[in-house]
Order: sequence, then C-alpha cells, then structure tokens
Amino acid sequence: MRVQSLQLWQYRNISHLELECPQELHLFVGPNAQGKTNILESLYLLSLGKSHRSRSTQELIQFGKQQARLKANVIKKGQPHRLEIQLLGKGKKVSRNGIEQPRLSQYIGFLPAVLFAPEDLALVKGSPQVRRRFLDMEIGQVSRTYVYQLSQLTKLIVQRNHLLKKIHQDKKLHLSLLDVLNEQLVALVIPIWKKRFHFLRMLTTWAKEIHQTITENREELMIEYVPSIRIHQEMSEEEMKKSFLSELSKIQEKEIQRGSTLIGPQRDDFRLISNQLDLHIFGSQGQQRTAALSLKLAEIELIYQEMGVYPILLLDDVLSELDDSRKTHLLTAIQGRVQTFVTTTSLEGISSTTLDRAQVYQVRQGIISEQR
Ligand SMILES: Nc1ncnc2c1ncn2[C@@H]1O[C@H](COP(=O)(O)OP(=O)(O)OP(=O)(O)O)[C@@H](O)[C@H]1O
Ligand SMILES: [Mg+2]
Repeated sequence: MRVQSLQLWQYRNISHLELECPQELHLFVGPNAQGKTNILESLYLLSLGKSHRSRSTQELIQFGKQQARLKANVIKKGQPHRLEIQLLGKGKKVSRNGIEQPRLSQYIGFLPAVLFAPEDLALVKGSPQVRRRFLDMEIGQVSRTYVYQLSQLTKLIVQRNHLLKKIHQDKKLHLSLLDVLNEQLVALVIPIWKKRFHFLRMLTTWAKEIHQTITENREELMIEYVPSIRIHQEMSEEEMKKSFLSELSKIQEKEIQRGSTLIGPQRDDFRLISNQLDLHIFGSQGQQRTAALSLKLAEIELIYQEMGVYPILLLDDVLSELDDSRKTHLLTAIQGRVQTFVTTTSLEGISSTTLDRAQVYQVRQGIISEQR
C-alpha cells in the first residue's frame, strides 16, 4: 500500500498542502501545536472516513471557512485510486475515482491504515473495558460473524439482567425462564471465547516478535487472557460449557441480588506481561508505550493476512518517550514493508541511517516544507 500524494484545503490549521510522498518513511518535525497531528489525522480520515479524535465535521474545517477538502492518490495492489473527501458544515461527501460513494462502507478499504496515537497507551494503563474494545474491534475487522455474535450477546445480557431484577422481586415466577436464557447465553459465549483465544494467540506471536526487535531481545512480551471464570484455550467447547454452567449456578443468588450478569466475555480482560511483570502495574512509561506499540503493530500483520496488503502506518508522537535504541529499532522493525508517517518534535536520537532513507518535513503554523 502506498500513498503517492496528499492534498489538503482548509483542513484544520492547514490552508493548503500539496505533498508528494512516494518514499517509505516520512517524518514531520516541529514544535507543539503546529499541525503535525492534523496531517496524520487527515490520512486517517481518508482511510476510514472519520477522525480518530473528533466526532464533529465542523471541527475539522478551518476556522471561519465553510468547507474543507482532502485528496489522496494511492496505490493498492498495483492499482491506482483517487480518494477524496469533502467536509461540509453539516456532513461529508466521500468519493473514489471521481465517483461519489453513497455509503461510507463502500468507500472504506482502499487505504487501510494503522494509527498509533498517545491515547493508545490506555491499552496498557487503562481499564479492562479499553482492552476489550480493542480486541472486539480487531476481531470485528476480520470476522463479521463475531460482530453479530457480540451484538447478540449485548442484547441477551440486557434481557437477562432485566429478568434477574424481576426474579429478585418474585422468585418463583421467572426462575424457569432464567434457565432458557442461560442456555442461550452458553450458545453465544463459547464461540466468542473461542475466537478471542484464537485471535489473541495470533496477535501475541506477532506482537512478541516486534517487541523483541524494539527492545533488542532485552524484554519478552507475553499476552495473557484473563477470563472471568476458570477456562483456558486448551479446553474443548464441552469443557468450557460445563465450566460456565456450573459457575452460573454457583453465583445465581449473587446475580439475582445484584440484578446483573457477572460472568462472561463482557467481564474479561487481558494482561500484558514483560519479563514476568504485569506492565499495567509495574511497567515504566517507556515499557508501557513499547508494549502498547507492539500490540498495535501486530495489527499490521493481521490486516496483511486478511486483506493481502500491508496498511500504511501512522505514528503520532511515539518517539518522545522511547530511548534512542528503541527509536531506531522501532523504525527498523517496520522497514521495507510498510509506508510510515511519523510525527515528532525533534529528530534527536534518530539514527543517521534512518534519517538517510526518510523524507523529513518541517511543520510550522500549518505550513509544511521539505527539509534538504
Ligand atoms: N478547525 C481548525 N481550524 C484552524 N486551526 C485548528 C483547527 N482545529 C485545530 N486547529 C489548530 O491546529 C493546531 C495544530 O494542531 P496539531 O494537533 O496538529 O498540533 P501538533 O503539531 O501535533 O502539536 P503537538 O506536538 O502538541 O502534538 C492547534 O494549535 C489547533 O489550535
Ligand atoms: Mg500532535
């Protein structure tokens, strides 16, 4: 996957930009608040039709202007495509090769991208909910059945919680109905668990390898699924089912009292471990960042497996907290396969070999100029 050129008009603080970018590595350098993230955001927007940091279209249009436009010429599997987005106060129009696409789903897929932004540190530091959302989004990208099963699970849990509350009021009346819902619940949680185990195993293999490169084999990353009941990936479906049903009967009273479904994939988590230490608790800032980054970079391989094409990679502000060795090894870990766009406030600590193969741009008040 290659972006060949990017054009922006009245986008955020960038009045006009025409960028030719056939190289593999692009570095955008400048002090804070100059427009570096805005450039990556524009590529993300061209990729997915939405911004990663703003829900409103209006915010993306330059202050005082009525509209903004973004264009990219890309090459995917040898085929050129022209992607264009027009942002209007009330919405947006997306088109490919000059033809407006009525649905976003018809537009997406021609510029797959993986973004790592400072917020992604929450993958290690944040709550289980953040990690579950990551897993669900990633698996959802490659399995529509999974998305369907998850939405069924969410609905069923709402229904079940409602029933639990009713039982709390009048026990005899609804207890038999609970058995029916429990059967339905088992039928959903097992395939979801199976997919999560399978997927996390693949992701771990790739993340581990990337992590080893970045840390020069000094650290070994492990990812461990933490289920809400005692199950593990070696179990057969029957064993999981048995385990789940027996646990459900044990906690039935508690669930009725609380009016809430207390076990299942909606309560699970995963742990990132480096050299036997849980990074959520014991990781340094740099270690946490490296682990989150490795996990995100593993997504690149997943997209490649599923779509047969390497996505572009957008790295926003990741270099600042990595030491010089990690910086260099991060940039070599991805070398040769993935076109990469990186923002940084300083080029310090980036090796000269990396700089030699990079196109460097200075970003000042929304104006982007090539260095050299
Ligand atoms: N709609 C808009 N119109 C004009 N300017 C905007 C708009 N939205 C944001 N900006 C400005 O764009 C500037 C640059 O934002 P950006 O997030 O790209 O900075 P940055 O170079 O990544 O800085 P940092 O190093 O702090 O991350 C901000 O100062 C912000 O005020
Ligand atoms: Mg920024």
